[in-house]
Amino acid sequence: MKPLVSVQGITRLFGGLAALEDVSFDVPEGGVHAIIGPNGAGKTTMLNVLTGVYTPSEGTIRIGDDDLTGKPSHAFARHGIGRTFQTPQIFFNMSALENVMVGLHRHEQHALLPAMLRLPKMAAGERDSLERAVGHMREVGLSAYLGADSTTLPYGALKRLEVARAIASRPRLLLLDEPAAGLNPSEAVELAELIRDIAAGGITVVLVEHNMRLVMSISQTIIVLDQGRRLAAGTPAEVREDRRVIKAYLGAEDDDDA
Ligand SMILES: Nc1ncnc2c1ncn2[C@@H]1O[C@H](COP(=O)(O)OP(=O)(O)OP(=O)(O)O)[C@@H](O)[C@H]1O
Ligand SMILES: [Mg+2]
Repeated sequence: MKPLVSVQGITRLFGGLAALEDVSFDVPEGGVHAIIGPNGAGKTTMLNVLTGVYTPSEGTIRIGDDDLTGKPSHAFARHGIGRTFQTPQIFFNMSALENVMVGLHRHEQHALLPAMLRLPKMAAGERDSLERAVGHMREVGLSAYLGADSTTLPYGALKRLEVARAIASRPRLLLLDEPAAGLNPSEAVELAELIRDIAAGGITVVLVEHNMRLVMSISQTIIVLDQGRRLAAGTPAEVREDRRVIKAYLGAEDDDDA
């Protein structure tokens, strides 16, 4: 089957340093696919390449039949790529619900103007947006914060709010950058269920995460990066047994609590 995304020979240089070096992999359609690796391995850089935030120095990115290499990030968004950030990017001048509506409006650009002009004819559409945003809040477990100011949300809820905003834009592929970071163990288990539900709903998920229990329990495939290079790839069982992977993690444990 044709992959949803195909990354071929990606190198990304910052100054003279390669944050990514000749990395290739395919993301199949459907399921959860993890990118793991020690700090500084290039995981976030790869997500930035996959969303058009960074243009690769070398290599190509294809989404379905289209070559998106060098295209701006809105082209990636239009091709159905959504994401969350390692540090939640919340609009704190907006309510929690309005943050989710930003995701909806990314999809329906016509919706903002009538809302601003308060045209009575468009009120139904506006109400529809509101209902859908509420639906996405509930979907990610934020029913308790439907009327909340975003500044009042605890950290774990902010991370879910980003997920709600991302799925509101109806992505085909959702990239999550360390969604479990800062969560306690029971919150991480709930997050695993949420990610499984999202994938079951037909959105392919690429998960960057240090929480190995989470990664191993919900991923169908895992790509391991180390110092910008692809170290290994395979099923959770294959990756767990891989000597190079074990070595990379043991080597990193000295100066890292991940
Ligand atoms: N904008 C940038 N300018 C210069 N160097 C960068 C930039 N972005 C990333 N890097 C470097 O690229 C390397 C990979 O960084 P990246 O953030 O992708 O790692 P990561 O795997 O996400 O790490 P972590 O697990 O700590 O989030 C690091 O050495 C980092 O310092
Ligand atoms: Mg990172």
